[in-house]
Amino acid sequence: MMRLDKYLSEATAYSRKDVRGLVKRNAITVNGNIAKNVDVKVDENKDCVCVNGESVLYRKFIYLMLNKPQGYLSATEDKHDPVVVDLVPEELKHFAPFPVGRLDKDTEGLLLLTNDGQFDHELMSPRKNLYKRYYAELDLPAMEEDIAAFSAGMEFKEFTAKPARLEIDPGDPRKVYIEIAEGKFHQVKRMCERVGKNVLFLKRVAIGELKLDETLECGRIRELTADELAIFGWK
Ligand code: URA
Repeated sequence: MMRLDKYLSEATAYSRKDVRGLVKRNAITVNGNIAKNVDVKVDENKDCVCVNGESVLYRKFIYLMLNKPQGYLSATEDKHDPVVVDLVPEELKHFAPFPVGRLDKDTEGLLLLTNDGQFDHELMSPRKNLYKRYYAELDLPAMEEDIAAFSAGMEFKEFTAKPARLEIDPGDPRKVYIEIAEGKFHQVKRMCERVGKNVLFLKRVAIGELKLDETLECGRIRELTADELAIFGWK
């Protein structure tokens, strides 16, 4: 149970002050009865709250899938560049979502956003051992021996990359899929450079078993479904 003003300020863009105004105007109902006070208690699992006749879906946390376009920083704010939270639809902005991990400014594809710190922590934990899958286009054709170099793991100045997978498109060996266990700064680009190739285009297509929804246009965001959240043991 929680106060009506807390419930609405968590679940909607209304502030507690807005809720006071709405109550004064008889604009809120709880289970069909006009709410006369902001401190009336509501059960977030059972009660049906409507504002101006529209029912409110209560939730504290949101989990979003973004098909990130190039040119956006994986950040909540920046002085110079657009940031991924600029792409969050207006009606979800009050949840204050932030990106889970990062993609480079020029990388596209699957990026999750949430306002649930525990979810972020869980997904970023090395313990979780989540593989991230990327599609990359290289300046030079990948070769069979590169597969072995990736699967042996690689030493870098600040970390050792665990064994990674390189799959080469048989029709065009400049096109590859790469799976890495970590997600260190420029990791895919650095691993490709190690075998003498530059990445010209990079797109993340999966995080663990969660695949980028290919029907989600570049720059668009949607909420994760319950099944998708269950992939990470979340609900
Ligand atoms: N590796 C990179 O080099 N860049 C990314 O954006 C993600 C992984």
